[in-house]
Order: sequence, then structure tokens, then C-alpha cells
Amino acid sequence: MSGAFWSRAGAHAESFDRLFAVLTGFSVLILLLVAGLIIGFSIRFRSGSKVTRHKVSRLVHREIEIGWIAATAIVALFFFWWTTSANLQQAGAPADAMEIHIEAKQWMWKASHPDGTRELSTLHVPAGRPVALYLNSQDVIHSFFVPAFRLKQDVVPGRTATMWFEADKPGTYPLLCAEYCGTGHSKMLGEIVVMEPGDFAAWLDSRPEGAGLIAAGRALFTSAGCSGCHAAGSAVHAPELAGLYGRQVPLADGRVVTADAAYIQDSILLPRRDIVAGYAPIMPDFADLLDEEEVAALVAYIRSLKGDTP
Ligand code: CUA
Repeated sequence: MSGAFWSRAGAHAESFDRLFAVLTGFSVLILLLVAGLIIGFSIRFRSGSKVTRHKVSRLVHREIEIGWIAATAIVALFFFWWTTSANLQQAGAPADAMEIHIEAKQWMWKASHPDGTRELSTLHVPAGRPVALYLNSQDVIHSFFVPAFRLKQDVVPGRTATMWFEADKPGTYPLLCAEYCGTGHSKMLGEIVVMEPGDFAAWLDSRPEGAGLIAAGRALFTSAGCSGCHAAGSAVHAPELAGLYGRQVPLADGRVVTADAAYIQDSILLPRRDIVAGYAPIMPDFADLLDEEEVAALVAYIRSLKGDTP
């Protein structure tokens, strides 16, 4: 079944549905219990009934009360553990994930594949392979929502959001914007096309060669002036960028941060916020000089520097 909003794809959707069913079932049980007690007590203590009322407090023994509170506390903690671990599992993408950049703008989704292939409001991905998305917005807050994957991620301007999924079977799944973003919000629709790996490779080959996000970032690295300080052999004392991505970075104020996509982006836009230990705060602010797409290209380029010097 493909195309329908209620279709389901991927292991995350399965565990999400299981959790949803159990929580709903548990809520129904509590509802029946409470409603049953209300109805039972309403009949038993109705006006004019001859039942004794001054001994009501003896109706429930202390042991039962303590047991009830303990049992519900344990059940609540169990649900907390279950939902939190399901969410944490979604937090970090596997290392072998395919990386795709998504630009959201009023009112479309622009996707860039690692080889530079671009597409608009449609995203082709291979089945059975984890896909990590790096999402940026050029204007307002959007929300990348794929009901069949049971995944939704807000895309806030000025920062990079990440999410990942692994679709298990080929099919076409609707993509929606789930955050009101202006008059065209309801038309900000798209499709995730999941293909067999062989078909996906053929599709990618058939696409015209794009400029390439990383190639665009490499060109910008020189034209925007980054290489003047960050290239090897530069006279300016600036942090080494090769192998930076994913590393622990000690800051001047004693904090240690992980150099993820958001950190790299912040360091370009607000360079004086997180100063690396041992360096002077001399980098100019690039917030007004680069647009979102250029920043995304630079971040993609810097992330691609695996240890060789730029
Ligand atoms: Cu974009 Cu709603």
C-alpha cells in the first residue's frame, strides 16, 4: 500500500505504532476503571439509599492504597523509559547513513544529494539504507513531516536540524509541512520515493550532474575568504578544519563541545560565541555575508574534510 497517509514504512514506524497502541489501550483501561467506579458509587450512594455513609473511609484499606500508588508509579516509569529510549534511538544517525541536505522555503522542499543531484519537493532514496537529513530553512519555521515514517522535524531558520530514517520497502510516501508557514502552507507538499537500491543507482545516474553542494562549498571556501586564515600554511593563527567534524572541541571558557553540523554553522555565523581554546576572537561575522544555501554548502564542505588539509 503506497501513497496513503496511513501507510507505514520503516522500523521506526513499527515501534512507534506499537507504543501508540499500548498507550491508547492503557488509557482505555484507566478510563473504564474510573468511569466504572463513578457509576458504581453513584448507584450505591445515590440519594435515599440506605447504605451507611460514615464508614466510607474504611472502604479502601491503607495497604491497597499504597499498593495502587506504587503500581501506577512503576507503570509510569516504565512508559517513561520506553518512550525516551524510542526517542533517543532516533537521535543519532548511523555512521553509514547517506547524507541529504534539505532546504525549506515558502513553499517548497529543495533536496541536494551527496553527488550534487538536486530535486524539488520530491526526495528519491534507496530502500534498506539509513538516510540522514540535514535540514535548513531560508525563511520561516517549517516542519518536515512524513506520516508513513511516523517522523516529524521542525526546521528553524538559522540552525541545522537533523533527522534520519530507513525505509524498508519501495513506495511513494507523502511529505507534508506540519508548521503553519504562510498562505501556501497547505500546498507545501512533496513525496518521498523509496526505490530498490539498483533502481535508485540507475535514477541517480540518469540525473544531470549538479554543481554539487560540497564542490560549491569548496569554491566558496576560497571566494568568501575562509582559506585566507584556515588553509594550511596561513600566517593567521586559526583552527585547523581538517578532521574537525565529529571531534570534541575544547573552548576558551572551559566547555567542551562536539563539532556537529550545528556547531560548524554557528561558528560561521556567530564566530565569537564559541571561541576555541588557544585562539583569539578575530574571525569576522559571516551572518550578513552568506545566505542559507551558501552556509549549507560551506558546512557540507567542512564536514567532508576528513583529515586532509583544505
Ligand atoms: Cu512550510 Cu508550513
